[in-house]
Amino acid sequence: WVLMATARAPTNIAVIKYWGKRDEALILPINDSISVTLDPDHLSATTTVAVSPSFKQDRMWLNGKEISLSGGRYQNCLREIRKRAGDVEDEKKGIRIKKEDWEKLHLHIASYNNFPTAAGLASSAAGFACLVFTLAKLMNVKDEHGDISAIARQGSGSACRSMYGGFVKWMMGNDADGSDSIAVQLASHTHWDDLVIIIAVVSSKQKETSSTTGMRESVETSPLLEYRAKTVVPGRVLQMEEAINSRDFASLARLTCADSNQFHAICLDTSPPIFYMNDTSHRIISLVERLNLSEGSLQVAYTFDAGPNAVLIAPNRKVAGLLLQRLLFQFPPPTDSELASYILGDKSI
Ligand code: DP6
Repeated sequence: WVLMATARAPTNIAVIKYWGKRDEALILPINDSISVTLDPDHLSATTTVAVSPSFKQDRMWLNGKEISLSGGRYQNCLREIRKRAGDVEDEKKGIRIKKEDWEKLHLHIASYNNFPTAAGLASSAAGFACLVFTLAKLMNVKDEHGDISAIARQGSGSACRSMYGGFVKWMMGNDADGSDSIAVQLASHTHWDDLVIIIAVVSSKQKETSSTTGMRESVETSPLLEYRAKTVVPGRVLQMEEAINSRDFASLARLTCADSNQFHAICLDTSPPIFYMNDTSHRIISLVERLNLSEGSLQVAYTFDAGPNAVLIAPNRKVAGLLLQRLLFQFPPPTDSELASYILGDKSI
């Protein structure tokens, strides 16, 4: 017999960034962070997990290619989920799995993401959130006190925030074992559903410094990082929660832009400095700042993660339309013949 479960999880975009760990193995952050979870139709992972007594070992395929599960992050997620597995019964198939059986049974996992392959957008948040959620579903793991988000966190920090829709806060927690470092939903996806998020793909190249390495280097070398985590972020998190509660776009935009800029300032303050944004990213910031100035109020927010792609947030479809017009005017899409030379490799994007 084979028993299966499938689930889908979207990625999330931080408006107050997570940058820096106090425990590398457990993935415990040095500050709280807040994000908005995207619509699953665009950037999401879909995972199917199967269990069968005929499987001889745990195996996983990512976008159709087998990958190794020997890494600590996968092993931690699998171990923690198995610990909490419950009894499972499928009467129709006549299957009964007792909770102690899960330790002996092996899993086959297939995961796909619908991220445009050329877009160079990170997928670890959606990937680990989806993996852990699907395992929990198959193995009848009860989500008590955000336990499941704490397991996804051990796959990739930002993954814990993709466990919920809408606006989500990852509380850094205090406990050494990480049990209180969990995600909580601040507002559901219907609370502020006028918001439009546009992702401007600036480069499809793989980033040079991964988030994991970058934040480790910042923790080791940036004198600004501690100031940010202890003095700036706590106040900003409270203000952001207030802005979300009252759907105050101008505050959301001001805090989001300021936090993205401070995160990139920390990257510059790291030794050697890390440059995630490029010239095009800077031009997009200027375009948004000019747009906001000309409209007399904050119409659009920008935020950049560990790469040059811009995430732009507009309060509604009308403003999003205006923003797209400006973007296309300043960055006209390539003509067909230009596109051909990009593809053939004569030009770089
Ligand atoms: C800049 O969650 O990818 O996107 O925990 O090492 O897997 P690991 O890092 P990851 O870092 C995300 C960093 C960020 C900011 C954020 O999403 O909060």
